[in-house]
Amino acid sequence: MKVDLLQMVETGGCSSKISPRQLEEFLKYLPVPHDPNILVNIDTHDDAGVYRVNDELALVFTTDFFPPVCSDPFEFGQIAAANSISDVYAMGGTPVIALNIMMFPSSSLPLEACAEILKGGADIASEAGVRIIGGHTIDDFPPKYGLAVVGYIHPEKIITNSGAKPGDLLILTKPIGIGVILAGQRMKMSSEKDVNLAKKLMKTLNYSGAEVMKKYNIKGATDVTGYGLAGHALKMARASNVTIEMYLGKVPLIGDTYRLVDDGCIPGAAFRNLEFVENDSHLTMDVRYNLKMICMDAQTSGGLLMCVPPEVSENILSDLHKTGFPRSAVIGRVIEKKEKYLNLEN
Ligand code: CO
Ligand code: CO
Ligand code: CO
Repeated sequence: MKVDLLQMVETGGCSSKISPRQLEEFLKYLPVPHDPNILVNIDTHDDAGVYRVNDELALVFTTDFFPPVCSDPFEFGQIAAANSISDVYAMGGTPVIALNIMMFPSSSLPLEACAEILKGGADIASEAGVRIIGGHTIDDFPPKYGLAVVGYIHPEKIITNSGAKPGDLLILTKPIGIGVILAGQRMKMSSEKDVNLAKKLMKTLNYSGAEVMKKYNIKGATDVTGYGLAGHALKMARASNVTIEMYLGKVPLIGDTYRLVDDGCIPGAAFRNLEFVENDSHLTMDVRYNLKMICMDAQTSGGLLMCVPPEVSENILSDLHKTGFPRSAVIGRVIEKKEKYLNLEN
């Protein structure tokens, strides 16, 4: 029996996240533990928490899981694992160990599909040098999968949302449009070529991006996932108390993303993200509607968004182009805090 996981879900991947606005609403009630060894907590909405063990070592700790973004169980496992591990890379860490988190409807899917998801996860984990040493499984519909990951980092070399400085240029490593392409796939409007490219991008580890950031001593970065390019840029701008200016015409897009938005492929998550960033954003009059909605589009296992000093930006781009991220581009810059946290231009 050929399993098609996409038949089981309305939305998958990071577009299944709770809306950023609702998240902020209930995070207010979460008590923040006080401990001098907590180096990064939820205050800055970072990709992972960081806990200091000693002067040389801190642990980066994160988890992500979601419903299927593709039909094939093995590929779903690969994508979910790459996405989970990405948060460690976004902090500048080295992922080391992980636990599987699996929800699986054992009465409606063959157990082989469960095994395939886990094998896909193990495949990407081993590519990242991560050892999966356990996990937890719940009988549940629809299936969901991801990892809880622990990484190592030097306590003085943590890359956070709060590290953006006025003058920095903004580099994005992977083209965007994942949510649009996948919505188009459901409506039979996306080309097979674009769907395959989207899947390839989602499976691509952010490993070499993290290596480049370490090499050039970058301080501010995140990865682009469920809140879209604009949502994650806003989280950085707020945590760093700066304004981030983005030139939407320079943002690299996957295949026919722009045209698909013309044809109405705008997933619901993009509207939720727009609602989240709207009040904190200044849009110039001429910003094209398509580009605005694309920068709200929820990405799954998206690229790194780095704030880099201008004098090293050319070297960083050339390193990224050579190490598996040929479409990396400068898409904006960081300036002193203006009236709004985000300036969106064409
Ligand atoms: Co993240
Ligand atoms: Co995450
Ligand atoms: Co357990």
